[in-house]
Amino acid sequence: MQARAAILWGLNEPWSVEDVELDDPEPTEVLVRMAAAGLCHSDEHCVTGDIPVAMPFVGGHEGSGVVEKVGNKVTSVEPGDHVVMSFIPSCGKCRWCSSGHQTLCDLGQYLMMGTPIANGVHRMRARGQGVAPMCLVGSFASHAVVHEASVIKIEKDLPLDRAALVSCGVTTGWGSAVHTAGVKPGDVAVIVGVGGIGANAIQGAKIAGARFIVGIDPIESKREAAKRLGATHTASDVFSAFSLIKDMTWGQLADTAIITVDVARGDLIAPVMSLVRKGGNVVVTAVAPFTQSDVKLSLFELAMFKKELRGSLFGGGNPRADIPMLLKLYQNGLLNLDDLITQTYSLDDINQGYQDLRDGKNIRGVVTFD
Ligand SMILES: NC(=O)c1ccc[n+]([C@@H]2O[C@H](COP(=O)([O-])OP(=O)(O)OC[C@H]3O[C@@H](n4cnc5c(N)ncnc54)[C@H](O)[C@@H]3O)[C@@H](O)[C@H]2O)c1
Ligand SMILES: [Zn+2]
Ligand SMILES: [Zn+2]
Repeated sequence: MQARAAILWGLNEPWSVEDVELDDPEPTEVLVRMAAAGLCHSDEHCVTGDIPVAMPFVGGHEGSGVVEKVGNKVTSVEPGDHVVMSFIPSCGKCRWCSSGHQTLCDLGQYLMMGTPIANGVHRMRARGQGVAPMCLVGSFASHAVVHEASVIKIEKDLPLDRAALVSCGVTTGWGSAVHTAGVKPGDVAVIVGVGGIGANAIQGAKIAGARFIVGIDPIESKREAAKRLGATHTASDVFSAFSLIKDMTWGQLADTAIITVDVARGDLIAPVMSLVRKGGNVVVTAVAPFTQSDVKLSLFELAMFKKELRGSLFGGGNPRADIPMLLKLYQNGLLNLDDLITQTYSLDDINQGYQDLRDGKNIRGVVTFD
């Protein structure tokens, strides 16, 4: 069939919105008509080369839509079902899935390969060439053929634009606080960078019962959004946050600090580690350039103050359990998805959406499809 997709043909080029050819789903795959796609910073990392990808490449890993066709071995969804994408597929059977670590599913290896799980042959073609999909999803397209392991069925009365956000941003941010940092009632949590991910780390820390939540961002509108979503305090940078956190904790410092800036850099680690108390942890959720390996870190502080530095992928939980649960929290008024969408765009305007992300204008920009 014909579809329309935003394709990346080269590093630092704009997304090219064009007609593409899309094959039918294989037996383990589904065809999804996309309803909404969130503009996450991770797709921008593919544009800049921080995340190496094969080109041509269809962007988008945050998305929701309606199932139009299913292969004959698909059991979890049928045509007409509403689904959200899971940017890490989960098979439910591998060592990681079966021990409560679905975000580490062995199917994740296909993300780096950029070819479909089923048979390694691209489903989408642009200008006669096979197109690799972002995170096996490629939600910057009117339609996508994805593996059953990449979709999660949701209730039909949920607004699909809000639901799209749990594909990545909400689940990643919320889980960074709840699962990876392990925020507990009474904790002091610091969120460094208030975009689509950080905003939800704030919400996760709030739901987990943190008594103080400090949102750090150089942009004033982000600090205002942080307050609306549950931050008790804000600061414009890590250094000015130090004295604030020292005062509010009577010198003990924070229990956790979660790094959700646009691009993770090694020189940010030491100053953020210095915001947390002895025995505290720092979570790195932000993506760093693939080739970067230098980190500034006091190993003395790490060992002598028993601090921990933890990585977090997709919130470190179980998307098949967390995604439906987060949508329940939304329905119950305990999770704010409405205020996360600060601007919507047509697919044709996706480059404006990414310019707005670079300019720090959005918590989350969302592409909506007709
Ligand atoms: N680990 C994962 O599973 C995962 C999943 C999704 C996204 N990510 C990554 O998380 C990061 C954030 O994504 P996003 O979509 O929220 O990005 P975003 O661009 O929407 O937000 C980043 C925010 O960080 C702020 N910032 C930049 N430098 C800062 C600094 N030094 N101190 C404080 N704030 C600073 C910016 O002003 C901006 O508000 C990206 O690197 C993205 O690739 C990781
Ligand atoms: Zn993302
Ligand atoms: Zn698995």
